[in-house]
Amino acid sequence: MKFNIAVLPGDGIGPEICAGAVKVLEKTGEKFGHAFSFTELPIGGAAIDGFGTPLPDFTVKGCLASDSVLLGAVGGYKWDKLPGDERPEKGLLGIRKALGLYSNIRPAKLWASLADASPLKSGLVKNGVDIVIVRELIGGIYFGERGRGEENGFEYAWDTEKYSVPEIERIARIACELAMKRGKKLVSVDKANVLESSRLWRRTVHEYAAKHYPEVEVTDVLVDNMAMQLVKDPAQFDVVVTSNIFGDILSDEAAQVTGSIGMLASSSLGDGTRGLYEPIHGSAPDIAGQDTANPIATVLAAAMMLRDSFGLNDCHRAIEAAVERTLAEGYRTADIYSKGCKKVGCREMARLICERI
Ligand code: IPM
Ligand code: MN
Repeated sequence: MKFNIAVLPGDGIGPEICAGAVKVLEKTGEKFGHAFSFTELPIGGAAIDGFGTPLPDFTVKGCLASDSVLLGAVGGYKWDKLPGDERPEKGLLGIRKALGLYSNIRPAKLWASLADASPLKSGLVKNGVDIVIVRELIGGIYFGERGRGEENGFEYAWDTEKYSVPEIERIARIACELAMKRGKKLVSVDKANVLESSRLWRRTVHEYAAKHYPEVEVTDVLVDNMAMQLVKDPAQFDVVVTSNIFGDILSDEAAQVTGSIGMLASSSLGDGTRGLYEPIHGSAPDIAGQDTANPIATVLAAAMMLRDSFGLNDCHRAIEAAVERTLAEGYRTADIYSKGCKKVGCREMARLICERI
């Protein structure tokens, strides 16, 4: 089969990790008889520098014309002083919105070969960690009304968290579907003891699940307690559904529990099959261009694309198995390195994975 993939490398380590993932996709295509073509498009700081905006129209058009999108990362010191609407991050939020990708799936899995990388005591993670965070991606406070003003001689600023019933229902559906395929247990995270929007979130998730997925057992956890439980007993969680901002924060925490944020991929989907696949980590400008970044999260994101957008389950499995073998053979990038392992750079890690496909 033929697929046209839009590649948005972005900033910092984005270009290096995307290059690695593209190599792995090419190798997988060759092996399984699929033709992947790639169209590179600018986003984030790179787009600001080249085209004066973090999300040029032709990038949106190119993504809409593609079968799916692979993204590196956006942002960097260079653009940190720009006003909110002109920042690189606006490009990422904008493309998610433009493609209608309301559901963001962030699996946090502790790989057996990396058990030592978790900062938690081994007793806490000895049974593994396998959580999937379902984050609402194009609503809530990241997209709500905001502004600035002056009152009594002082500047102020405000943002709004707002969710409608349909917005909550459509993400609840994704989470319930996933729960049905896994342990049929769903944890919904909110701050319903304080926020009105959370009270609506909680009620809607329960009503929706009870009506459409009666087999799924829904439990509520307040976000502050969730932050604590994730480091106290991460193995208790399976599928977790939450709002945009809480999902952003908790997914970084869950990622770190599994050892390295450099290992975790995410998929963002809407109602169609076109998705956006990216590592959950950022652009790491401090190590950009040094060939030391870990490409595995982006490689695994590319693998998720093959499964979830293109239905190529065998290709997905082949890439995951190749990553597993590379790790089992002791190869590590700097972020997951421990004594006795073989330290390799970004390009070499990608090459080793290709070799094992
Ligand atoms: C993420 C990132 C983005 C987000 C930023 C860069 C806009 O932190 O993907 O988690 O907040 O969603
Ligand atoms: Mn984040």
